[in-house]
Amino acid sequence: MASFFIRTEVPEDIPAIHEVNAVAFAHDDEARLVDALRENGDFNPELSLVAVSRDRIIGHILFPEITIESEEAAVPAVALAPLVVHPDFQCMGIGRSLIEVGFEACRDIGYHIVVVVGHPGYYPRYGFSPASNYGIVAPFEVADDVFMVNALIPEALAGVHGRVRYPKAFEMVVGADKNPGRITKPLS
Ligand SMILES: CC(C)(COP(=O)(O)OP(=O)(O)OC[C@H]1O[C@@H](n2cnc3c(N)ncnc32)[C@H](O)[C@@H]1OP(=O)(O)O)[C@@H](O)C(=O)NCCC(=O)NCCS
Repeated sequence: MASFFIRTEVPEDIPAIHEVNAVAFAHDDEARLVDALRENGDFNPELSLVAVSRDRIIGHILFPEITIESEEAAVPAVALAPLVVHPDFQCMGIGRSLIEVGFEACRDIGYHIVVVVGHPGYYPRYGFSPASNYGIVAPFEVADDVFMVNALIPEALAGVHGRVRYPKAFEMVVGADKNPGRITKPLS
């Protein structure tokens, strides 16, 4: 079991964040997405967190800014995308820590709604449920049970509905037909 801690990213971490995303996903879509989001200023640096073990970055979580738009309102929220733990360090609770510390950081900054495209067997344990329950829809084709939303404080989702608008980088880097932020590997 590795000892690790979680902190916000600093500029020196950028190559290692790219690397851990590329290695854990086995392709570089998410790594390039993170770079593009950073370049476009699409996230608050306080909401890019790394897991560090012995001076090495072994995990990363990012919460880019999104809005949930309807005719009445554009509600600010964040996406949880991507989340990654280096293959040598998976299933040790590092993903859980990144999510929990990340939610705390989101609350501190004032974001109370998180949207994820991810495995329906993984994210509900952190409070996520299908976004369709709230009338919140994705701007791309996605199965109902993998497009999920979570309220970080009670009542955060009261009256909130509409279509999620992601930063342009998602479409440019990954393609409108794909869903970054998903868990891509099958359950082992
Ligand atoms: C998914 C991931 C972030 C989880 O991080 P982790 O540190 O391994 O997870 P934790 O140790 O906190 O939690 C372990 C639990 O997650 C589950 N889990 C791990 N990988 C999973 C996957 N690909 N699909 C579904 N569940 C998964 C484990 O089965 C375990 O469940 P249990 O507690 O019921 O036994 C990590 O495995 C990873 O980086 N995978 C590759 C990239 C990816 O798919 N990222 C997610 C979407 S952005």
